Amino acid sequence: MNNIKTIFLCLVILMLLVSGVSYAGTYLESAHGNSTHGVNRKSTLQYATGHCAHCHEQHASIDGTEPEPNTGDAAGPDKFCLLANNFDTSAIPGAYVQDDNACFYCHYGTGTFQGTPFSNYSYSVTFGGNTDTTTATIFDAFNLTSYHNLKDVIDYAAATWTTTFTTDNNPCCTCHNTHLAKRNKANPDNPVYTAISKPSAHDELWGDDDTERMDDYPLTYQAPYYYAVTPTSYEPANNATSDGSNLPNYAAFCLDCHVNDIDGAGPLSAIDWAFEDQHGQGDATAVSSEGSLIAPYADASSGNYALSCTDCHEPHGSSNKWLLRTEVNAKSGISITTGVWYEFCTACHIVDLISGNHSSLNTGSTCNDAGCHSHGSNF
Ligand code: HEC
Ligand code: HEC
Ligand code: HEC
Ligand code: HEC
Ligand code: HEC
Ligand code: HEC
Repeated sequence: MNNIKTIFLCLVILMLLVSGVSYAGTYLESAHGNSTHGVNRKSTLQYATGHCAHCHEQHASIDGTEPEPNTGDAAGPDKFCLLANNFDTSAIPGAYVQDDNACFYCHYGTGTFQGTPFSNYSYSVTFGGNTDTTTATIFDAFNLTSYHNLKDVIDYAAATWTTTFTTDNNPCCTCHNTHLAKRNKANPDNPVYTAISKPSAHDELWGDDDTERMDDYPLTYQAPYYYAVTPTSYEPANNATSDGSNLPNYAAFCLDCHVNDIDGAGPLSAIDWAFEDQHGQGDATAVSSEGSLIAPYADASSGNYALSCTDCHEPHGSSNKWLLRTEVNAKSGISITTGVWYEFCTACHIVDLISGNHSSLNTGSTCNDAGCHSHGSNF
């Protein structure tokens, strides 16, 4: 976009900024708009904490000079008058640099532009109780072994929800609305404070209404244990609630995109949680001794459970392949890079390697060979 157009857009935003009173109401309740812990860029400290100007620069300058960041992709006027280029579509996935995404200018470790550095740990830590806090920022998470490929995500959203997204939008904003997202991490038991928005309903939060929780997904949700040496409480809030009434309906959220296969040609795989997969609504026969369930799941209830995607997956990235969590059902330190999943599956199943279907296998065998286990196949 050329500078004139960008400056015009900045003026439009400025007008909205002045007139958008009701909009500002919800914004002020968001994590970014909060007057205590909201946005506060170190180069724009003349603005109050939570002010739009920490992210949006009118005319790409404030008092005649462009506040930092102002080099690389962040130099000059940026789309949506942002502090930096919204997203660099030529970014190398898994080797992202700060300048690739406007969000990384703050959601970053040493070198963050937020006045007071802050952390966002993995889902396994924040909602699972894992104690490994090596991955401490969103930037870190997207540079692990597996990650949501940001370009693929925005390309998919722009092709699917053509009136909501274009490839000028930020890929992070397919799952988050920057002006609405709240701090679930500070209130893990209360999804009124959800941080996510479904891409198909970008202008509202997802999980805040009590019809948008895991206990509304068909069949029974049983929360996994929260990490402890002797676990007694449940995800996501380390308390007694275990029916999903305190968890956003992540199955519906993830399936907003993962219901599609882009005709088998794109990078996105369709996950059939409604019919095929037994971890979803698919028919599980009583789990036999070959894979009996571990507490808090009960064998007798097998067939009735439907899991949340986040019981097994991280949303952003993981040191394991396929965004698989490193802590599951209070078992921590799970490290798997191939289809050798014994350590992972045994967080919830006792797998019998002596008799039955698994008797010729050992803890180093691959589980996704020969159509044995994967989404869509005996899963
Ligand atoms: C100017 C700095 C800044 C920028 C740029 C920024 N954020 Fe944030 N963000 C923050 C701060 C500060 C918080 C509150 C952190 C806390 O509560 O510890 C936050 C919180 C959030 C939250 C709520 C969850 C939480 O940790 O509290 C989400 C979601 C989020 N940001 C997403 C984004 C996305 C997506 C972008 C890019 C489109 C972005 N942010 C850009 C500073 C920033
Ligand atoms: C806005 C659309 C969108 C949403 C919502 C979404 N995904 Fe994805 N996902 C994608 C796209 C596109 C890909 C393919 C590109 C890639 O590999 O990252 C993908 C890939 C994946 C992969 C494979 C990653 C790899 O290592 O190759 C996993 C696992 C995954 N998603 C899980 C999830 C989970 C769990 C959720 C919900 C928390 C979710 N997705 C929500 C778009 C989405
Ligand atoms: C944390 C950074 C951040 C803050 C703070 C912020 N915005 Fe934004 N805003 C964005 C991003 C990122 C986009 C681009 C959205 C996208 O890529 O999907 C955007 C887009 C917009 C747009 C274009 C239309 C749209 O919604 O996509 C308007 C208008 C806007 N912002 C106004 C405001 C106003 C007014 C405020 C303060 C009340 C504000 N913004 C605060 C990050 C922010
Ligand atoms: C595929 C959907 C998806 C994409 C893409 C995505 N997120 Fe998230 N994000 C989630 C989900 C799900 C959560 C978990 C909810 C939570 O933490 O409250 C989350 C949580 C967060 C949080 C809060 C973490 C905490 O401490 O609880 C922040 C901040 C955040 N995301 C920022 C980003 C940024 C920045 C990007 C882009 C670089 C991004 N997200 C891309 C789905 C996504
Ligand atoms: C977070 C806990 C959890 C993890 C991790 C987990 N499972 Fe399960 N699994 C369950 C639950 C609960 C059921 C019962 C589902 C139902 O009631 O429909 C189940 C059912 C199954 C079934 C159906 C059994 C039958 O008799 O029909 C298979 C097969 C299975 N799991 C394989 C796996 C494999 C392979 C892995 C590792 C990749 C794995 N599971 C990881 C919780 C888990
Ligand atoms: C019981 C644990 C478990 C749950 C629950 C789970 N997954 Fe997975 N997922 C896995 C494992 C293990 C893999 C790697 C094996 C494979 O390729 O299927 C995987 C792979 C994936 C992949 C990439 C490869 C592929 O098969 O397409 C996507 C996308 C994905 N999951 C999305 C989801 C979504 C969306 C949900 C919720 C509707 C979900 N998963 C729920 C364990 C789980």
